[in-house]
Amino acid sequence: MNTEFEVAEALKQIALDEEIKAYILQHPPLYHSLLQAALRFIGGETLAQCAETAKSVNQQGTAVTIDYMGESTRDTGMAEQATQEFLGVIQTIVDRNLDSSVSLDLSHIGMVIDTELGYKNACILAKAAHDVGLEMMISMEGIDRTSLILEIHQRLCETFDNVGITLQAYLHRTPTDLENVLQLPGKIRLVKGAYAAPAHLAKFRGAELDKSYRQLMERLLMSGHPCSIATHDPALLDPVPLEFAHKFIQEQGIEQDTIEFEMLKGVTPERLQTMKNHGYRTRVYLPYGREWHLYLCNRLAEHPPNLYRAIADAAKYKYGR
Ligand code: FDA
Repeated sequence: MNTEFEVAEALKQIALDEEIKAYILQHPPLYHSLLQAALRFIGGETLAQCAETAKSVNQQGTAVTIDYMGESTRDTGMAEQATQEFLGVIQTIVDRNLDSSVSLDLSHIGMVIDTELGYKNACILAKAAHDVGLEMMISMEGIDRTSLILEIHQRLCETFDNVGITLQAYLHRTPTDLENVLQLPGKIRLVKGAYAAPAHLAKFRGAELDKSYRQLMERLLMSGHPCSIATHDPALLDPVPLEFAHKFIQEQGIEQDTIEFEMLKGVTPERLQTMKNHGYRTRVYLPYGREWHLYLCNRLAEHPPNLYRAIADAAKYKYGR
């Protein structure tokens, strides 16, 4: 096992550690230092800051999706508060005339407290988004939640056509899940998968996972279903040397209207620009809020050299430069 792999796996465990997260939130000097590292990847701590970031991304011709960060809410009052905040996100997108969708974790709005609470709150948000012509994207969480999230998504699709879903290529079950969600309306966002998962259920990062991602991407693109190819992988995206997705789309004569390329804020913006130059719709995932612990750890885990940058950013808060 090499050191980088071990660091990545450790960071994925830390990402899910709610005690560490609570400790950071309760200790302002630590919170503010680490916030400097998180700001590279998030739209801000508040909705107002995030709307400003969204506006500037839009001005460069790229859409965004705004997510009020949080997951695993254990308290009904907090799930209701999160739902209200998401209603504020939808209203802000309308008021500021942003080119944006809304993204969320179902566990943030009550799914792990009670399935029906999660479903009810998701319905409220899907309807509010639908009424103003916005798309709502559901993120995919840890493997213990996959089935529940897909079930709630399916129920939402019985009423709404504006609710998309994220699928993780690393899970062995995903080819079957993809066939099921292709029968439903709503965009399908394909990602590699960020959470720690056991080997009998998921593939580790590497050639085997990349092959699965390619196969799922081909199936998705060929289906003509609205989709988001959400990866920063140069082997799958770049014009040179591999130009995989773009070449495949051209060779197969697939219409570009249903396809978008989506990347995370602060991660390889030049690759998103390349896809935009090819004429595709592009989107930046823009999370905001104070619950950035899991999100920051996942960004460091998927590219451990980011740790150096994060330490330098965090140190600036205390020591300046
Ligand atoms: P991979 O990790 O193999 O990286 C390929 C290359 O991209 C790297 O070699 C490096 O050059 C660059 N790169 C990738 N990440 C980087 C980083 N953090 N910093 C610098 N360079 C980096 N996951 C999940 O489990 N549930 C979800 O709902 C979502 N949602 C989601 C939405 C969107 C829009 C995106 C883009 C991603 C997600 N993810 C996610 C995260 C996803 O599962 C995955 O962890 C990351 O996208 C990184 O995987 P890549 O496909 O980029 O490939």
